[in-house]
Amino acid sequence: MHKQLNELRDAFHKSTEEIQTLKDLEAIRVQYLGKKGRLTIALKGMGKLSPEERPTVGKLANVIRGEIEKTIQEKKEWLEEKKIDLEIQNEKLDITLPGRMPERGHRHPLNLVMSDLEKIFIGMGFSIAEGPEIEWSEYNFDHLNMPAEHASRDLQETFYYTEDIVLRTQTSPVQIRVMENNRPPLRIISPGRVYRSDEVDATHSPVFHQMEGLVIDQNITMSDLKGTLSLFAQKLFGDTVKTRFRPHQFYFTEPSAEMDVSCFKCGGTGCRVCGSGWIELLGCGMVHPNVLRHCDIDPNVFSGFAFGMGLERVAMTKYEINDLRLLFENDKRFLEQF
Ligand code: DAH
Repeated sequence: MHKQLNELRDAFHKSTEEIQTLKDLEAIRVQYLGKKGRLTIALKGMGKLSPEERPTVGKLANVIRGEIEKTIQEKKEWLEEKKIDLEIQNEKLDITLPGRMPERGHRHPLNLVMSDLEKIFIGMGFSIAEGPEIEWSEYNFDHLNMPAEHASRDLQETFYYTEDIVLRTQTSPVQIRVMENNRPPLRIISPGRVYRSDEVDATHSPVFHQMEGLVIDQNITMSDLKGTLSLFAQKLFGDTVKTRFRPHQFYFTEPSAEMDVSCFKCGGTGCRVCGSGWIELLGCGMVHPNVLRHCDIDPNVFSGFAFGMGLERVAMTKYEINDLRLLFENDKRFLEQF
């Protein structure tokens, strides 16, 4: 029995020498100390020993059990430490690697133009007003003095939700909302999206942006309009640009005009950007008395001017973009240039 126990002890120590994993260690523990383990079985055989042999064999068996348990415990701690070391090693960061540069975003050219215009007008004392994109057709047309048979009411030009509700085709209805809810003096601009049922091409899109402007006070005249809008053009394109006003027709203004600016690129001689030397920039006019009256503003006391422009058009002119679709396609190669 002594011999058997000593063999068992040697075998145990030998088998733990090369242990590399906690799993293998556990297998060995079971193999020796488990219910059917080698030491357990050996101890069960003690019953057959003579009473003289029993105490010495028992003592040896206990020593061996202690040794096995201690060895397993030590090995276990060692393996666990090794495992943590290994994990730390694998997590190690190589701080000498070059960094990955985050891509910087760019502002959209339309957004740039919008904030340029806002800054210019805010600098002249205007504030920003907003109106809904889903609008009563009365506000989009009737209150703006547009006749019932006006061509732009046609299904081909306007998106109708119901007969009375449209996607606004212009930012001009914001004028009405502002005048209905505020008393003069008024000085507002109103940038926003507008909709027309146009096919997409290089100069058309069913959704685009406009900016409306409105000034109402006592003694506002056409020369206030010209002065304000000429200053605006110079702030936008440079101090040397000139403006000209051509007679035009809008239902909500009388008289009405279109304003051109001399080309900021060629100075007005004619080039690839402008063609003729002039760039058509906006529509404007003196607010029609009917529009004022509808909003309960007395045209005998107050007068004012209004203007409206397409922002895509301004962006395309300013940044020399030749196709409107580029503004909506979100091609990074295009957007990165701004
Ligand atoms: N709403 C006009 C359009 O969509 C633009 C416009 C012209 C607005 C003259 C105005 C204005 O306020 O006075 O073509």
